[in-house]
Amino acid sequence: MHQGSRGSRKNPRTMTDLDKSSIQTENPQPFEQEGIDILSKKGIEMAMKGEELLKAQAHIWNHIFNFINSMALKCAVQLRIPDAISHHGQPMTLPQLVSSLQVDPQKSQHIHRLMRILAYAGFFLIHEPSKEGDDQEVAYSLTNSSLLLLEHNPFTLSPFLLSMLDPVLVDPWKFISTWLRNDCDRTPFETAHGKQFWEHMGGKPKDGMVFNAAMASDSRLVTSVLLGKHKSVFEGVELLVDVGGGTGTVAQAIAEAFPQMQCVVFDLPQVVGDLKGSHNLTFAEGDMFQQIPPADALLLKWILHDWSDEECVEILKRCKEAITSNGKKGKVMIIDLVVRDEDNKNDMLTETRLFWDELMMMTVGGRERNEKEWAELFYKAGFGGYTIFPILGLRSLIEIYP
Ligand SMILES: C[S@@+](CC[C@H](N)C(=O)[O-])C[C@H]1O[C@@H](n2cnc3c(N)ncnc32)[C@H](O)[C@@H]1O
Repeated sequence: MHQGSRGSRKNPRTMTDLDKSSIQTENPQPFEQEGIDILSKKGIEMAMKGEELLKAQAHIWNHIFNFINSMALKCAVQLRIPDAISHHGQPMTLPQLVSSLQVDPQKSQHIHRLMRILAYAGFFLIHEPSKEGDDQEVAYSLTNSSLLLLEHNPFTLSPFLLSMLDPVLVDPWKFISTWLRNDCDRTPFETAHGKQFWEHMGGKPKDGMVFNAAMASDSRLVTSVLLGKHKSVFEGVELLVDVGGGTGTVAQAIAEAFPQMQCVVFDLPQVVGDLKGSHNLTFAEGDMFQQIPPADALLLKWILHDWSDEECVEILKRCKEAITSNGKKGKVMIIDLVVRDEDNKNDMLTETRLFWDELMMMTVGGRERNEKEWAELFYKAGFGGYTIFPILGLRSLIEIYP
């Protein structure tokens, strides 16, 4: 992908290359030394002194301020900084950026600081002024990650970012300990808003629209990979139902790629009630815990991680009924994360998986699962076998068969 290094400037550098070791979490050392009472003041002093004490302090500071990364990125998207740089067509200096963003010129130094932290995080490249040229300003260009935040990029993740960092979804994070102590709410989301997630989204159409737009933006990206490189997984399917298919982004793309296939988007009335289809795409409202329309293949993208094990088994039983009706033997296609225990490294992907699991706990009362946990659900719901295709980055396509 384009690295945004057009123009005359030399030596773009990404600040992600900088040595982060001083603030990164290293493998935590066990806090125990023989013969030392680690709970006493003296024991703590003996176990951790000088450098180690300061390192632990830096680690805690870094953790406390982790939210600054999310909020800085949100601000950049709200100001549409990636779009401004993209429209400029070459690395953009701070004064050019400030004037195009229409922010108060007196605040230009603050934009510089915002860009600096986002460059450090790998969202922009900083181009130093070339020694021989007249231009004495640093300039900024885009990286692959900020390209994915452009408004007009068909795979833009801006709607996803704006939804996940909307106060509706951020507020529940303030209630985790309250929720853990009470014995009534399913999730911190419920503690914060007084309603469970799907009920809230149904009652607040504006919040529902923001969330559905987030799902649609992810769906465009996933579908392009699925239909680009792995189209064959849909070969031979005549009738496909996308269970919890949201506003139909995935099903619409499949319907266009396979004009002979009938595609049905099945979701709650609040989501599909007003939507119109095409000659081979229809919308059906209902509750997947009650009954799922019959099909050759069912697609469940980002559905099962929303629910507890017991609820997943219920949904999967309804799926099995739907694909075996009229004596058929269809398949269920699940798109979700498969946690690989051997991946438990100190890296960004592992941390992202852990974030996802926390997010599911926080918002909907679901969880992420490893292969053994998935297999257990399939077995309990009466399925005979499964195949995992690790073809979608952090997520996999799992096919299960009756
Ligand atoms: C996380 S979203 C995923 C949407 C879509 N599959 C995607 O990945 O873009 C979960 C979807 O499940 C739907 N849903 C929740 N409860 C449902 C139910 N009981 N029956 C049918 N759909 C439901 C929601 O309305 C939402 O569209």
